[in-house]
Amino acid sequence: MTIWEPTEKTLSNAAQILIKGGIVAIPTETVYGLAADATQSVAVEKIFLIKKRPSINPLIIHVPDPSMVNELAATDSRFHELTTVFWPGPLTIVLKQKAKNKISELVSSGLTTLAVRQPNHPVTSEILRKVQRPIAAPSANMSGAVSPTRATHVEDSIGQHVNVIIDGGRCKVGLESTVIDLSTDVPVILRPGVITQEQIGQIIGFVNLSSHDSDLPKSPGQLAKHYAPSLPLRLNAEEAREGEAFLAFSKAGKAAIDLSPSGNLLEAARNLFFLLRHVDKPDLYSSIAVMPIPEVGIGIAINDRLQRAAQLHGQESALHNHL
Ligand code: TXA
Ligand code: MG
Repeated sequence: MTIWEPTEKTLSNAAQILIKGGIVAIPTETVYGLAADATQSVAVEKIFLIKKRPSINPLIIHVPDPSMVNELAATDSRFHELTTVFWPGPLTIVLKQKAKNKISELVSSGLTTLAVRQPNHPVTSEILRKVQRPIAAPSANMSGAVSPTRATHVEDSIGQHVNVIIDGGRCKVGLESTVIDLSTDVPVILRPGVITQEQIGQIIGFVNLSSHDSDLPKSPGQLAKHYAPSLPLRLNAEEAREGEAFLAFSKAGKAAIDLSPSGNLLEAARNLFFLLRHVDKPDLYSSIAVMPIPEVGIGIAINDRLQRAAQLHGQESALHNHL
């Protein structure tokens, strides 16, 4: 059995596995992560191998508290303001790395920056406190596939390659963290999430939102071949065609499967990856149709993931050939 219920003993054991260079799937409020000690290159390399992740796609460092970041990267007032408001929580911040930190060079794929986040999940907070080392953790799925929001999702895809999966229940946010780049003068959101451009702008002033095409060298994980189910996806669908699974939005109980019957975007974000997996059944359906999601607030992050998931089966970017 690779899934452990969280107890004082299993969390201590999980911490020991990480310290010894093992791989632990951890629950976070966003999605499950595939964790390794970021200071051990051999452990970090295992993450890339398990996920079949291109080595040019950097990993996020998870910390038990904001103060650990001071040893690793250059923090500024914007970092302190954002972490005061949003940490622990679904916000990843990209900073300039300190020249001689202990982080393996594999983590940032040779970039001079480092992405950091303090997740908000009691189980993983406890593991991070016990380990007291920076922990690298991408989403615990095969590269390009839909992120896991349940322990069983991890078990089904990469379960045999990890030392253990810690079951922290359903992920409450359900979408990966917002990624904001503070390594430049004008902050840029590299990946939208449930913490929105507006919310961040209220704290630190003007923030750019990176366009899909311009982020190629900065955030490779943001390209096509991501978040994709095995079935093709048809977006902005008003109704199902023959053979299609139908993901409704805001149908007030009139649809069998609805991202949010009441039209609540936070609820739709929470359900998105779970329901995409739920209907991804090639023996039952030929494709998945999804109703339009309003392009406002959290809807921007939902549409970002849907567009990338849909792209896999249509036009593929030049980068895809390298992946
Ligand atoms: O919610 C999350 O962030 C989850 C949980 C497990 O914490 N993690 C996650 O990791 O989504 P991953 O590896 O699936 O996505 C990390 C994203 C990628 O788009 C990657 O390119 C970007 O963060 N990233 C990491 N380091 C970066 C850096 N130094 N500069 C720019 N982008 C970076
Ligand atoms: Mg991912």
